[in-house]
Amino acid sequence: MKATILFAQPGENSFTHEMLVRTKAALEQAGISYNVRDLYKMNFQPVLSPDDMERVENGSVSSDIGEEQELLTDADLLVMIYPIWWWSQPAILKGYFDRVLTHGYAFRYEENGPVGLMHGKQAIVFTCTRESEAEMKKDGFDTLIKKQIVDGVLSFIGCDRVVHKNFAAVSEVTDQKRSEMLREVEETVAQFVTPVPV
Ligand SMILES: Cc1cc2nc3c(=O)[nH]c(=O)nc-3n(C[C@H](O)[C@H](O)[C@H](O)COP(=O)(O)O)c2cc1C
Repeated sequence: MKATILFAQPGENSFTHEMLVRTKAALEQAGISYNVRDLYKMNFQPVLSPDDMERVENGSVSSDIGEEQELLTDADLLVMIYPIWWWSQPAILKGYFDRVLTHGYAFRYEENGPVGLMHGKQAIVFTCTRESEAEMKKDGFDTLIKKQIVDGVLSFIGCDRVVHKNFAAVSEVTDQKRSEMLREVEETVAQFVTPVPV
């Protein structure tokens, strides 16, 4: 099994970065090789340009997008790690979806509607919010953040198994609760991946 981690948080001193550290540790523990696509460090260009659009219409992509598509194709497990911004992804990750998950590569439209083309992959999504679970529930944002990424992106492109965990009120929880959350990140990855026998 190979994993690709999509990471979108500009600061190292953040809960999101700690989730990345724990994810990598759990993958290493299970003997799974992985690539980290740290979109800010890569200075990923997230704007879908007229040139990108034209290329997709002609069945090609630019070299930076081709490289990302190869990495995704090669991975059995996709892990996405990001903070919730405006009840969605940071724009740099949203732009990654716009540019990399292209029509013809990640999905295509057929007579009966869209069909995902990325079968055989599993996905884990770790997010965090400032708002508490109760505050989010009151407004339906708990369901919204899950549905957008799980149904709207990962199931849409054909991933077979998708798990999303949001860690709420991360800026306000006690140190103990924070440790428990980070342990849950590691345990989730560990439960998801089958250890490679040595
Ligand atoms: C641009 C921006 C938008 C944000 N939007 C939301 C939001 O919609 N809901 C929310 O609960 N928190 C929101 N936050 C707070 C972040 O989710 C919070 O800072 C993050 O979960 C803490 O994790 P970190 O330590 O990795 O930054 C936003 C923060 C920023 C910078």
